[in-house]
Amino acid sequence: MIVLGIETSCDETAAAVVTADRRILSNVVLSQLDEHRPYGGVVPEIAARAHLDHIDRLVGQAMEEAGMGFADLSGVAATGGPGLIGGVIVGVMTAKAIAAVHSLPFLAVNHLEGHALTARLTDDVAFPYLLLLVSGGHCQLLLVEGVGHYALLGSTIDDAVGEAFDKTAKMLDLPYPGGPSLEKAAMPGDPARYTLPRPMLGRPGCDFSFSGLKTAVRHIAEAMPRPLPERAQADLAASFQAAAAESLVNRCRNAMTALSQSHPEVRTLVVAGGVASNQTIRTALTGLCGDFGYGFTAPPPRLCTDNAAMIAWAGIERLRLGLTDGLDFAPRPRWPLDPDAISVQPRVTARPRDSARDAAQSTALAARS
Ligand code: KG4
Ligand code: ZN
Repeated sequence: MIVLGIETSCDETAAAVVTADRRILSNVVLSQLDEHRPYGGVVPEIAARAHLDHIDRLVGQAMEEAGMGFADLSGVAATGGPGLIGGVIVGVMTAKAIAAVHSLPFLAVNHLEGHALTARLTDDVAFPYLLLLVSGGHCQLLLVEGVGHYALLGSTIDDAVGEAFDKTAKMLDLPYPGGPSLEKAAMPGDPARYTLPRPMLGRPGCDFSFSGLKTAVRHIAEAMPRPLPERAQADLAASFQAAAAESLVNRCRNAMTALSQSHPEVRTLVVAGGVASNQTIRTALTGLCGDFGYGFTAPPPRLCTDNAAMIAWAGIERLRLGLTDGLDFAPRPRWPLDPDAISVQPRVTARPRDSARDAAQSTALAARS
């Protein structure tokens, strides 16, 4: 089984060819950093037009590097959402066209499911597992029981952790994109120099919050002279990173404690999404897993940030189960992984869907109340 994957939900145009025996035959990613840099963030209309300009060439390159023709494929997968709708439309329409012309199955993949299943491509991780999904738009803890079976244990009540990295980087006059440049700036820094809040620390449940931490950094950063002294910039970046990591660890600890009662068969923590490429966070989570006797899997950084190999792989997982989509699939700007989770902003709570997930969710809900 060989699937072409296409990813266009944000500011990366990407195409990849992946096999069911977990080989990545090609994985091409074109970042639009230069187009968006002058604006300090992703401009949706610019992103959509850039995807349109580059997608055909990237698909051609991915097929060529894989040494494949379209006739060799078993299916075509594209991110169907959630994401910036203009970009998602470009990817979905491209995949549909290839599928229609070559009579191939079309698979609309949830971008978050792509992140969620990457550890099965890279490390053959078995279900069930606990997933910490940390990206620019999402910060969630999920129980992953199978393809399409996700139970939300906790979510952010304000900013996603990647967003907090990006905004903090901006306050520290670090270049776009924020997450990687903040990690780099923090390297020589002293994480104990500034006392910052550890959001949600000690609170029950698995929800996250990062706006308080961000505000605390802003107050310190605004009081600093400009240009920022290099030492202070490094120390504040390191202090922020340490606080964010500690908060993530604390929330994961609560999830592991709850699951040890309701789902003792869960023995693995997987971290996924762009922020999962952060080494401080990976190290902190490794330590936590040691305490709980959990296995820990983090995909290589280039498969944590947005890419099409994860979309091709999720397509393979779905194709194996016969979960194909019609050419009438409508791209979705919003698409929660756990469709039964009810968003009651600012708090995200979950409603049990079946008995297997019931216990974990009611534990999480009880812990929050
Ligand atoms: O998964 P992703 O590539 O795109 C989304 O689906 O959002 O995640 C992008 C996010 C951005 O907020 C970026 O700043 C963050 O991941 N990120 C990092 C690092 N690399 C990317 N955050 C912290 N440390 C990093 N090394
Ligand atoms: Zn992503």
